[in-house]
Amino acid sequence: MTGEQTTGPGPATDRRRIGVWENEGGHLALGVLAATEAPAPTDATARWMRAVPLSDLPEEEAIHLELSGVPICLARSDGVVHALLDECSHGQVALSDGEVTGGVVECWLHGSCFDLVTGVPTGPPAMVPVPVYPIRVVADIVEVAI
Ligand code: FES
Repeated sequence: MTGEQTTGPGPATDRRRIGVWENEGGHLALGVLAATEAPAPTDATARWMRAVPLSDLPEEEAIHLELSGVPICLARSDGVVHALLDECSHGQVALSDGEVTGGVVECWLHGSCFDLVTGVPTGPPAMVPVPVYPIRVVADIVEVAI
């Protein structure tokens, strides 16, 4: 098991998850995800930030935004828009430069895929989730709660 990483904005919470992956030899690997995630904003704390018109976000693509100094990967997959921290938890590169397909974004550097709903990596080398942010669409404008 490698060391823990800290990533994401805001205060950390100590959430631990178990991850199971199949490696190239077909063997299962089990690991504890020492996840450090920013807590999702509540209605009382959310600051909704205008992002882009929905029509500017093509299907199965991602774009990079800076909202209140937070790098955001805004992705659209299967008709649903998602917002994640735009920083891979493995190598700190922009996830928005990766491929989006089937509800995941694939990091361009080493190939870890991150679930767009949860931010959890679906396989190594990344083992730490990236923070996700609530979104809403108001009058065709995508807004992200930071
Ligand atoms: S930098 Fe993203 S998987 Fe390594």
